[in-house]
Amino acid sequence: MSDIAKLQIGDNSYEFPLVKGTENEVAIDIKKLRVVTNGIITIDPGFKNTGSCESAITFLDGEKGILRYRGYPIEELAEKADFLEVSYALIFGNLPTKQELDKFHADIKEHSLVDDDVRKILEAFPKAAHPMGVLASLTSALTAFNPSSVNTASKEDMYHAIVRILAKFPVLVGWTMRKSKGLHLNYGKKSLGYVENILYLMFKQPNEEYVMNPIIKDALDKLLILHGDHEQNCSTSTVRIAGSSHVGLFASLSTGISALWGPLHGGANQAVLEMLEAIQADGGDTKKYMAKAKDKNDPFRLMGFGHRVYKNFDPRAKIIKKAADEVLNDLGVDDPILKIAKGLEQEALNEPYFVERKLYPNVDFYSGIIYRAMGIPTDMFTVMFALGRLPGWIAQWREMRLNKEPIGRPRQIYIGETERHFVELDKR
Ligand code: ACO
Repeated sequence: MSDIAKLQIGDNSYEFPLVKGTENEVAIDIKKLRVVTNGIITIDPGFKNTGSCESAITFLDGEKGILRYRGYPIEELAEKADFLEVSYALIFGNLPTKQELDKFHADIKEHSLVDDDVRKILEAFPKAAHPMGVLASLTSALTAFNPSSVNTASKEDMYHAIVRILAKFPVLVGWTMRKSKGLHLNYGKKSLGYVENILYLMFKQPNEEYVMNPIIKDALDKLLILHGDHEQNCSTSTVRIAGSSHVGLFASLSTGISALWGPLHGGANQAVLEMLEAIQADGGDTKKYMAKAKDKNDPFRLMGFGHRVYKNFDPRAKIIKKAADEVLNDLGVDDPILKIAKGLEQEALNEPYFVERKLYPNVDFYSGIIYRAMGIPTDMFTVMFALGRLPGWIAQWREMRLNKEPIGRPRQIYIGETERHFVELDKR
C-alpha cells in the first residue's frame, strides 16, 4: 500500500500521509487538512472514523475480538495477574518487578486516608443519591484536600497524584456504598492486598470480623482487570479531553466518572439488572422483550447487548461468563434472574435481528450478575466499573500529558440562522 492518501475536492487534489500503528492499523493524517484546503474540515459525529491520538496503552480489534493491555492479552492477565499489577502495567508500560510492585503498593498505602472533612461533604448528600453522582463530586472535591496533586507537570508530580488517587478512591467507593446503607464509614486495613482492602472497605461490619471469601476476591480481581482500560471510549476520551486543558488528575477523573454513568456506557451493567428484574416482575416472558427490542417504534433496547467496536464477540464477556458460572456455583446461588439472563442470551444468539446486526452480549451483561451474587447493590455496579477503569483513565491521562498533546477542541459545521438583527423585546 502506498503511504499517501489522495483527496480530490473539485479541481484541487491534496495528498496526506498515512500513519501506521504497530498492529498495522492505518490512519490518514489530516492535521494539515484545514490549512491546505482553506477551511475544509471532516465531520464524524460519534467519532466512528476518527482517531483522536496515538496511544501505546491498549490494543483492541473489534472484528477479531482481541483486547491487549500494553501488549499482554486480556485472557492471560485475567488468569495470571492481579489488579494492582495490571494497574501498574497500564499506567507505566510494563508488568512490575516484585520490587516495583512492593514499592507501588507501599506508596499507595501511605496515602490511604481521606481527610475527615470529605466525610462531611458525603454526609450532606441525600441517602438516595446515585453513587456515581456522589463519587464524581467527591473525586473532584479531593482536589481541594490535596492541593499538591493539582499541578502535575513532571513525572514525579504525576506519580504522587496517581498513588494518592489509587489509595483514596477505594475509600470513597466504600463510603459511598456504606452511606447508602446507613453503615458507619470506615478506613481500610494496611495489612490487606489492594483488592482485599476494597472488599473490606465495602463489607466490614462494625460488630464482627471480616472474613475474606477467596472466591469473591478472585472474581473481583478478574472483573476489575477486565474493566481496566478500553482505549478511546466515551469516558476515557472525556478524561483525555478534560485533562488536555491541563486541569489536574482528580478533576479530569471526575469528568470520566460522569461520562461512565450513562446507560449507554458504564451504566449499562445497572441497566441490565434492572431490565432483568423488570422482565421477572412482568412474568419472565423473555420473548415479549425480544419482540420489544426488535420493534423500531419501541425505544426498548436489550441492555448488555451490542458494542460500538466488538462486532463478533466481546473477549471480556467470554472470560466473565465463565467467572459468573464459577462464582454462582461456588457460592451456591440459585437466582431466578440468572435463568432469565440465560434465556435472553440464548434467544438473542439465535435471533436473526441480533445476528445480522452482530449484537452479542457485552461485558456488562454478565458483570451485573456477579456483582449481585457478591451482595453489591445494583446502583453500585457502575461504581465498580469506575473502580476497575481508574488505572486506564490514569494511564490515558498520563500518556496525553507526557505526549504534550494539544488542547482538545473539535470543530463543527454551523447549521443555525445566518446573521439577523436584534429586535426590541416589545417588537418580538
Ligand atoms: N437492542 C436492540 N437493538 C440494538 C441494540 C440493543 N441492545 N444495540 C444496537 N441495536 C440496533 C440498533 O437499533 C441499530 O439497528 P438499525 O441498524 O436497524 O438502525 C443497530 O443495532 C446498530 O446500533 P447502533 O446504536 O448504531 O450501534 P452503536 O455501535 O452506535 O451502539 C451500543 C453500540 C450503544 C453499545 C448499543 O449497542 C446499545 O445501546 N446497547 C445497549 C446498551 C449497552 O449494553 N451498553 C454497554 C456498552 S459496553 C460498555 O460500555 C462497557
